[in-house]
Amino acid sequence: MAVLPIVKLGDPVLRKKARQVSPEELASPEMQGFIDDLIETMHAANGAGLAAPQVGRSVAIAAVHVEDNPRYPYKPKVPLTVFVNPTLTPLSEDAALLYEGCLSVPDLRGRVPRHMHVRVQALDRHGAPLDFEVKGLTAGTYQHEFDHLEGLVFVDRVQDPSTFSTWANFDRFHKAAFVEEARALVNRYGS
Ligand code: NI
Repeated sequence: MAVLPIVKLGDPVLRKKARQVSPEELASPEMQGFIDDLIETMHAANGAGLAAPQVGRSVAIAAVHVEDNPRYPYKPKVPLTVFVNPTLTPLSEDAALLYEGCLSVPDLRGRVPRHMHVRVQALDRHGAPLDFEVKGLTAGTYQHEFDHLEGLVFVDRVQDPSTFSTWANFDRFHKAAFVEEARALVNRYGS
């Protein structure tokens, strides 16, 4: 296993729609080794998620995993999940403005509208079908990673550019209020 370099905003790979992965390719030792590396890289960087284009590979594979995360202390836990060739379907009109950040966008956060209830259909890393619903902040995390596979970055979805903030200034000026909002969402949606 290896920690891979994370590509940053401006790299064209982040702007490409990632290609689907066939079951045969997914099962290959090479691709399984790549998925191990993607997970190790996400953990090494304290990411809540990481998508393959962020390590320079334009395939529709992403991972999410939230435990006690120093980058996002208010996020509820999410078990390690690898999802391949996903589709996301909003299941309600509910949305919230979440502060997001991204390992490919150093030292910037901003507020992004996200659906609060989505259905995720995908393959797991072994090619078995996944079909589940996620809510609240966790739904936001999935939408962020799904966007990477579509060639989108969270900055594209920021509707009010005045919400852009460095991480230090987020902590200083915005974190306390947002943690309260996040807590209310977790209470409402259970995640
Ligand atoms: Ni990201």
